[in-house]
Amino acid sequence: MAASLRNRFLHAIYRFDPWHMTGTYYARPYKAHAVAMIDSLKPETVVEIGVGLGDIMGRVACTRGVGIDLDPNVIKAAAWLMPRNIHLQSADFAQPGDLVAVLSAEGINDIDALVLINWIHMINFTQISASISAIRKAMPVRHIIIDAIKPGIKGYRHHHSEADISTLGEIVRSVEADEVRTLHLVRVGAA
Ligand SMILES: C[S@@+](CC[C@H](N)C(=O)[O-])C[C@H]1O[C@@H](n2cnc3c(N)ncnc32)[C@H](O)[C@@H]1O
Repeated sequence: MAASLRNRFLHAIYRFDPWHMTGTYYARPYKAHAVAMIDSLKPETVVEIGVGLGDIMGRVACTRGVGIDLDPNVIKAAAWLMPRNIHLQSADFAQPGDLVAVLSAEGINDIDALVLINWIHMINFTQISASISAIRKAMPVRHIIIDAIKPGIKGYRHHHSEADISTLGEIVRSVEADEVRTLHLVRVGAA
């Protein structure tokens, strides 16, 4: 309730997507699953793309992190909520050249955990592969935490299969994160 009120207040100022007002950490159980999955890696460097207000990124135990989002307004709002070791930037996953430039400017040259959760179903898998390949050309990526919408669930653009996700690396753990999505932990091999 308090998180929802806080997000309503931030929304009145920054006018980001209304989803963030109600889609809080407490309302969405997948977020706690994601934090636990990322923390299990004991990562130094975490990059979350599509970070939103940082409900996941802001709770992860890491040395340094970068949260990236397409929407500059949600990034401005998230800046009020993030711990100091997490930096925030605006960029589009579908423009990997810009994304890599942003990460390099932040001094990121390797990634222990690359997090893509609750928006990646809007992107076709060819684009996902191309953007991740471009990031991996620029810097090593050790793990990817990505969700996939379960088969048969209606109302989502793409349902990425385990076979799709296995092309990114070895799926080492999968968790039923809520009624609609499975969360996968992918160990990425050498480039
Ligand atoms: C539903 S929210 C989820 C936020 C966060 N991942 C979470 O689970 O709390 C999806 C976020 O992804 C962002 N997004 C969507 N498409 C994106 C893209 N192509 N590149 C970067 N961010 C994107 C949206 O702006 C939005 O803030």
